[in-house]
Amino acid sequence: MDKIAKDQRVSAKHLSFAAKTNLGSFYTPKRIAQKLYETLAKFVAPDQIDVLLEPNCGYGALLEGEYVKRIKKVIGADIDESAIAIAKSAFSFVCFKSANALKNISRSNYGINENDRLLIAANPPYNDLTSQIKNGVKKLACEIDRDLLTRDLGLSSLLGFNRLRPDFIAVLHPLSYLIKKTNFNLLKPFMKNYALKEALIFNSQEFCDASKTSGFPVLIAIYAKEQKGTSYEDIYHWRFNTIEGESFTMAQFDYIGAYLDKYPNKKKKNSKYLFYTMRDINALKRSRTFIKEEIANAVHIREEKLDYYCYVDIFKDYADRLPYYMGNLDVPIDNKRFESLRDSFRILSAYKHSDIFAKPKFDDFQKAQTRAQDYFRDFLEKVRL
Ligand SMILES: C[S@@+](CC[C@H](N)C(=O)[O-])C[C@H]1O[C@@H](n2cnc3c(N)ncnc32)[C@H](O)[C@@H]1O
Repeated sequence: MDKIAKDQRVSAKHLSFAAKTNLGSFYTPKRIAQKLYETLAKFVAPDQIDVLLEPNCGYGALLEGEYVKRIKKVIGADIDESAIAIAKSAFSFVCFKSANALKNISRSNYGINENDRLLIAANPPYNDLTSQIKNGVKKLACEIDRDLLTRDLGLSSLLGFNRLRPDFIAVLHPLSYLIKKTNFNLLKPFMKNYALKEALIFNSQEFCDASKTSGFPVLIAIYAKEQKGTSYEDIYHWRFNTIEGESFTMAQFDYIGAYLDKYPNKKKKNSKYLFYTMRDINALKRSRTFIKEEIANAVHIREEKLDYYCYVDIFKDYADRLPYYMGNLDVPIDNKRFESLRDSFRILSAYKHSDIFAKPKFDDFQKAQTRAQDYFRDFLEKVRL
């Protein structure tokens, strides 16, 4: 295999950009694959496993290394037959199979016995079919069983793994699968059976061909089949470590969602000000804030909440300074400090959107700017503590 993995970052060279996007074929760099097995080894030794299944093997980045070689039976599968043909030439000890991991999946289809101790190691495709990025090329690349169907192939893949009842799962997946409540809820059938044992964050920009401008946090996650499963409460208090040695918990911040409406609120019509729908920090970086047109994504602002929207509007200007691993969080706020700065945020937004608000005096603008800079400087220092 070392022939292929000489370069740390491997690109699916046989695929067009559109095919790569639809199959989610962004292959794992060697250092991440090594870290995955290093992390897994803390929980289970290779000789305690009968079968390793890699259901989305691509060129085989996760079939490499000492840990894998010590497992009795190793199966590599993928829906992409050309990728399998390339992987076959590099791994003589692996049984390869062309298979759709989202359709009729069962142990017997992969040639795995019911009582084998099974490990799944995978970096499934993450392909959010509703996301606005790369919207022009996205389409569903395979058939999916009804009960596995979600809006994201990665979420569906995890539900598929659950069906195979593995004892351990070592998987790379976006952090948003855990921290976004809607995603977590879709994963409930999986989370009921699997306890998160370790979760290490890295930047999606580690993947070859990934966006150079907007990285999102991805996890090296180890799950074990345990009756207690994983609850959203566990996630909320989980201390996530990053591969770079930083850490955070969701619970350490207060979030803007507690103070304003983030999504279209159709019943509250006729407000003076409108704001674009808010999702997470990464979405805010790309989206607009105050808007003038009544569109489907418009949030109607209640007058008494206006200062909070101004806060988000100004937060957007500082968002690039936040670490990538916070990208899927809601906009955080230090509400106590905000209370003493309300006017400053309003003045700054007014200055920024002179077509919507009356333009403030330059002097007031300068004072407000200094105060907001102090707020964000202190906030960013606290994040990195
Ligand atoms: C993120 S890549 C990972 C490849 C490899 N595991 C690695 O880590 O480098 C996702 C892989 O999933 C495969 N894939 C996409 N849809 C699939 C499906 N329905 N069934 C099986 N494999 C699929 C793609 O062909 C691609 O090889």
